[in-house]
Order: sequence, then structure tokens, then C-alpha cells
Amino acid sequence: MTIWVPVLTGEGPRYRQVADAIVAAIGAGELAEAEKLPPQRRLAHALGVTTGTITRAYAEVERRGFVQARVGSGTYVCASVPDTFTHVRPEGDAGQVDLSLSLPPPCDLRAQGLGRAMAALQIDVSALTHAMDYQPEGGLDMHRRVYARWLTQLGLPMAADELLIDQGGMNGIFLSLSTLLAPGERLAAEMLTYPGLISVAQQLGIRTVAVEHDEQGIDIDALAMRHERQPFAALYVMPEHQNPTTVALSESRRQALVALARERDFWLIEDGVQYIRERATPLYQIAPERTVYLFSVAKMLGGGMRSGVIRVPATLRSRMAAALRNQSWMPPPLIASLVCRWIESGDADRLLDWQCEEMAARHALVERYLSGYKYSGRADGFYIWLRLPAGRRANGFVDELAESGVRVTPAEPFCVGSEPAPQAIRICISAASDREALERALATIRERLDSPGPAVWRTL
Ligand SMILES: Cc1ncc(COP(=O)(O)O)c(C=O)c1O
Repeated sequence: MTIWVPVLTGEGPRYRQVADAIVAAIGAGELAEAEKLPPQRRLAHALGVTTGTITRAYAEVERRGFVQARVGSGTYVCASVPDTFTHVRPEGDAGQVDLSLSLPPPCDLRAQGLGRAMAALQIDVSALTHAMDYQPEGGLDMHRRVYARWLTQLGLPMAADELLIDQGGMNGIFLSLSTLLAPGERLAAEMLTYPGLISVAQQLGIRTVAVEHDEQGIDIDALAMRHERQPFAALYVMPEHQNPTTVALSESRRQALVALARERDFWLIEDGVQYIRERATPLYQIAPERTVYLFSVAKMLGGGMRSGVIRVPATLRSRMAAALRNQSWMPPPLIASLVCRWIESGDADRLLDWQCEEMAARHALVERYLSGYKYSGRADGFYIWLRLPAGRRANGFVDELAESGVRVTPAEPFCVGSEPAPQAIRICISAASDREALERALATIRERLDSPGPAVWRTL
């Protein structure tokens, strides 16, 4: 059997030439997604180099995030950074009901709250002057105190001196990964996880390790076994409201997870961006010494506010602060001032109350239209996770829905590494402009689910 053999440039160390050629072949589509790289010994023989050179080349390509080694099986080309990782609606699809992004439900209270915060700030000369100054990297003490009080009231007890203000969830992920892991190190995550995490890990050359999970959250035995075979430096989880599966990590697994993290000594990155009111004990309370907690106002006030906090153990504080400084000196002071005024006026809480009621009403619509089908969702959560009936394929179903004017997301972009995607879709019921639009979309989804699906032609 012939194997794929690269043409080398003849410049630089041999292992790097091989690595560059592999990356170029992946970029050109010559090596396809999920394809296995040639056995190291055979490629070494074909190129007239040592097996050690090929081992080093494969490790280099893995470090850059293009391939992943599987113990006892070989090295495989990773799925590309999913195109679907975007939080911007594509242009030109007016008339569609877009339920593909987890956006807060539209409501005038949002613009009103921001407007009032701006009006109050506009006449406060001292606050305006402050807002134009350089400030400490984690934000002003008074702003951190406002955040700490509010989070405590939201069921997330925190002290101001544990927090750094950042620019929201993605910023928190980037700061955590770049602080806790060096390029080439391993980060564990559930097999299905937030695509932004996968994208940041790839950019930083951090290797992701996929771990099984079920309806109680991440499987702790599987995690322990993974750590034995492929030790990782940190684990990323969303214990309260998993994106995309909506699962909450059970209280007993939280305790077991912390015990394992302490025994094996890895960091925990707890992503709480998908806030919901019903909650168990946060990991950072059980293991404050090794948990970084990420919070953002994106799912409450609005994604454009770009503000949040990162709660860090005392031992990490100066490293995390340095990462913030290196990135942008500090979070934008003007935004922090506005968000804090919005919170202090009580408008943020009123908005949150409205949002919870609105989401409850939207979930009731889901129940009405999708009953009988297998889906999960949480009281005030923004999305549901729908498992397709036997015989239906998620990518095809998503295309069918798009043709009928409804956009949703298949499981594929949430998959870590080259793990296969389940036949399931995420439907962001929060993103519909109003309940009528949501009802129309749900009726379409129901109709497509009830239909037999398109005929499938098989090749001989
Ligand atoms: C789990 C999770 N983490 C992080 C983010 C990014 O948050 P932000 O918009 O604040 O950057 C999102 C956004 O959808 C998310 O779902």
C-alpha cells in the first residue's frame, strides 16, 4: 500500500520541514480531516530520515493543533476550527428565524437600562475623569466591589479581592488558558464543549483531550483514566449549564472531581457564562485553591457590553493580572463604569427577572411543540439540546431546516478533537425576536421531525 509522502523544502531542520509539509498538506486538503498520518517508521524510510525525526515532526504538528495522537492507534488530522464558531449573524438571511446563537432574548429594558446608566454617568464629572485614566489591570476596587456584591446576591459568593474585571467569557478563556497552560500541554474538556474553548486552545497550541460525559455531567472515572494515559494540566467544565447539552454536574460528581483534581494536581476552569438561577455548589467554593471561575454579563445585559470577571486563586493572581496587562493594560474603564451603574440602579436585576419569566414562557412553547421528542433544557436556560430520532442525521437536518427558514446548530462544532458527533442539534430559543417568531420556528422543526426525511441514495 502506498503512503502519503511529503516533498521537503530542504531548508531548516528536517523535522520542521516534515512538520511544515504536513501542515501545508492539511491546509491544501491533501490530508483530509480525520485522516491517519502514515506510520512513522514507513514515512521515515520513504524520506530517508530516522524515525526519531518523524516522531518529533508529528509532535510539532500536534503542538500546533493540526493533528492528535491517539494511544495505540496513530496520529489523526483534527477537525478544522469550526466555521460555525461565530457570534455574528451572517448577512443576507433576513426572514429566517435564527436560533443558532445563544443570544439574550431581545427586550427594550436592555436599551433603557444602558441609556439610564449613560445618563447618570454623563453628569458625574469625577467618574468621567476616572473613566479616561489608566487604571489597575483588574479594574477599580470600587467596580470589583460592585461585581462581588452582585455575584454574591446571584448565588455566587465572592470577595472583591478575588476578582479581576475582564472583557467577558472569551477573554476569560483566553486569559486562563494562556496563564495555566504552555503550548503543547494538555487541556481536558468534555467531548462536547463550547466551541470558543476549542478555538482558543488551537490558537495557543494547547492539545485538547476529550472526556466522556452523560446526564450527570463529566464522567469522573473516564477522566481519571484519561489523566493516567494523557496527563493534562487543566480541565475546562461548565458545571451549571453545559453548552451544548444543558446538563448540570451532579453534587456528588463535583466532590469527586475536586478530590481527583487535588490527587492528580490539575487546575479547574469553571465556566459560568451560561448563568441560570438554579444551582449547586460552584467548584470554586469547594476547591478555591485550584479553580478559576469565569463570569460574563453577555447573557444578562448583552453580548456587546464586553465585561465580566475572572475569579482566581490567590496564588495565580499576579500571573493572571500580568496576562491582562499584556493583553490590553486593563478592561475598558468606561464599560466597567456603565455596567456597575446598571447593576447598582437595580435595572440589571429587573432585566434578569424579566428574562427568567420570558425564558420560562419560551420553554413552555418548546414543551408544547416538541413533546414526544427527546430533548433537554433548563428553566431559564437559553437553549435546548434535541436528540434526533433514529435514522436522522444532524447536518442534513440542519440543512433541511435552513431551507425552511430556521437556523440551528448541529453537534459538530462542539466536538473536541476528532471525536464523532452525535446526531443532535442545539436550538437557542432565546435568540428568536419574540415568542411568535419562536412558535413559527418550533412548528417548522416539529413538522420536519414528523416527516420521514429526505430519501437517501446509497452508492453501490
Ligand atoms: C460557555 C460559554 N463560555 C463563554 C462564552 C463567551 O462569552 P462572552 O460573550 O462573554 O465572551 C459563551 C458564549 O456563548 C459561552 O456559551
